[in-house]
Amino acid sequence: MVIKRVGIVGSGIMGSGVAEVAAASGHEVVLRSRTQASADATLVGLEKSLAKQVEKGKRSEAERDEILARVSTTTAVDDLADMDLVLESVVEDLAVKKHLFTELDRVCKDEAVLATNTSTLPVVELAMETGRPDRVCGIHFFNPAPVMSLVEVVRPVTASDETIATAVAFAEACGKDPVPVKDQAGFVVNALLFPYLNNAVRLLEQGVATKEGIDIAMKGGCGFPMGPFALLDLVGLDTSVAILDTLYAEYRDPNYAAVPLLRRMVAAETLGRKTGRGFYQYQK
Ligand code: CAA
Repeated sequence: MVIKRVGIVGSGIMGSGVAEVAAASGHEVVLRSRTQASADATLVGLEKSLAKQVEKGKRSEAERDEILARVSTTTAVDDLADMDLVLESVVEDLAVKKHLFTELDRVCKDEAVLATNTSTLPVVELAMETGRPDRVCGIHFFNPAPVMSLVEVVRPVTASDETIATAVAFAEACGKDPVPVKDQAGFVVNALLFPYLNNAVRLLEQGVATKEGIDIAMKGGCGFPMGPFALLDLVGLDTSVAILDTLYAEYRDPNYAAVPLLRRMVAAETLGRKTGRGFYQYQK
């Protein structure tokens, strides 16, 4: 099936980034938020992002207008009934996602593919909430979605070849490089990335170097575009702890056990860029 209409559920960093990617590559996008206020804020964010691209000469004003015209917002899940693909990017909480998949299954047309942008949760459990487990898969974009080229296409044991082919074709149509992966916590990138991020916080706790020093070391020593603390702030500390908890529950590897400082920072609501303060301070 060729995907033309895409429903996005969730208007956080990932939902809005993926909405931009999908609309910019010619898809009609309906973005569902829980409140009209967050839907409006997402549209403002999209306008700003596109305005920056026009300023830099990467897009024309006409292109910007066409992209914006392809995006509409709603607070009603029922408005996703006609979508060819619905991709959810709501909070990394299995119970919340399961409930959402039950609703999507009720509302969406039979042939629609339902997908999750989860980083670590078992996609098969979401598939089994629906009457169409063969048409459920993971389509995992990376942050920031408009910039990062990778998409992990996650295959639960229940998915059909056609569903995976549809997801791969959608990612390619978005200009991304899809990599098929098994439905196993962390897939490829997060299974490798999060022990590194977690151990960076451990080194900080141990006083081996300052956070600035560790970031400089990993950029200069490994050629990474960002150091681990800048990256944790970008991903969000709450999301990072949720990812580590799921990885630990699946593998029982101590490298995945979130270090105490990370948990304390989440308790203190210093979550990274989204709250203006994490390991570093940001202007909101
Ligand atoms: N939206 C759209 N465009 C953005 C953007 C955003 N949020 N952030 C940056 N950009 C664009 C800029 O406009 C710029 O484009 P041009 O060069 O064409 O003008 C380009 O990206 C580079 O940006 P900057 O020059 O401002 O900054 P930079 O060179 O420091 O790059 C970065 C920023 C792309 C974020 C880079 O630092 C990077 O690649 N960091 C690593 C990010 C990463 O590892 N992400 C994965 C996180 S893990 C994850 O997502 C998985 C999960 O499940 C948690």
